[in-house]
Amino acid sequence: MSVFNNFFTSNKLKHPIDMSLISTDMHSHLIPGIDDGSESVEDSIELIRSFYNLGYKKIITTPHIMFDFFKNTPEIIFKNLENLKNAVAKEQIPIKIEAAAEYMLDEGFIQKFRAGELLTFGKKYVLIELSAYFPPDSIYQVMFDLKLDGYNPILAHPERYAYWYSDFEKFVTLKDREILFQINLPSLAGYYSAEVRKIAEKFIDNNMVDFVGSDTHNSVYFEQLEKSRYSKHLEKLINSGMLKNKEL
Ligand SMILES: [Fe+2]
Repeated sequence: MSVFNNFFTSNKLKHPIDMSLISTDMHSHLIPGIDDGSESVEDSIELIRSFYNLGYKKIITTPHIMFDFFKNTPEIIFKNLENLKNAVAKEQIPIKIEAAAEYMLDEGFIQKFRAGELLTFGKKYVLIELSAYFPPDSIYQVMFDLKLDGYNPILAHPERYAYWYSDFEKFVTLKDREILFQINLPSLAGYYSAEVRKIAEKFIDNNMVDFVGSDTHNSVYFEQLEKSRYSKHLEKLINSGMLKNKEL
């Protein structure tokens, strides 16, 4: 019995990680009503309070911007951010809230890039996601053009792009081209699948991770974030000193 207990618990930490070591969450959907994330100010406040209680000092929330689905603009995002910040101030939660965006790499993204309309944070970081189902055809050229223009692209949750699992070199090539990687904390908790978790851990083992994000849409994600605090790989990543979240 005890052998099995050890087997099942050995990949978990005994005590949860203090999330003030991460300090800033830079991927979430907490502006209510403008994407598939939080649905009300009340839900957002509840989640933001939970971030604060875990030790987070700052949240950079990143509403979806997609050409054909979430047609958010900087005006929509910042107007709604103001309302959220007012609500957070009213509740007296001492945490900083900023906003940028999570861009889908689609034709709308290219247009916005050319028009100089991209929302960034920190060192001109721009958070970009890929389709979960179809590999992109122009990723290297777009990333090259972005870098040439002084942007620092961050690839959101690369561990979720299953079409590259059998070709890990694709990920290595992106890292060689200095594309930053952000993995999702729920991935380390096994939220999406065992395979997603395995790839996220492989990125950590190969020193390929620059940022972690919660990708919080609702309380289900937040529960997974709490679960990830027992991940030995998260501890390893924090101890590696490679995480840039604290610089934000
Ligand atoms: Fe996201």
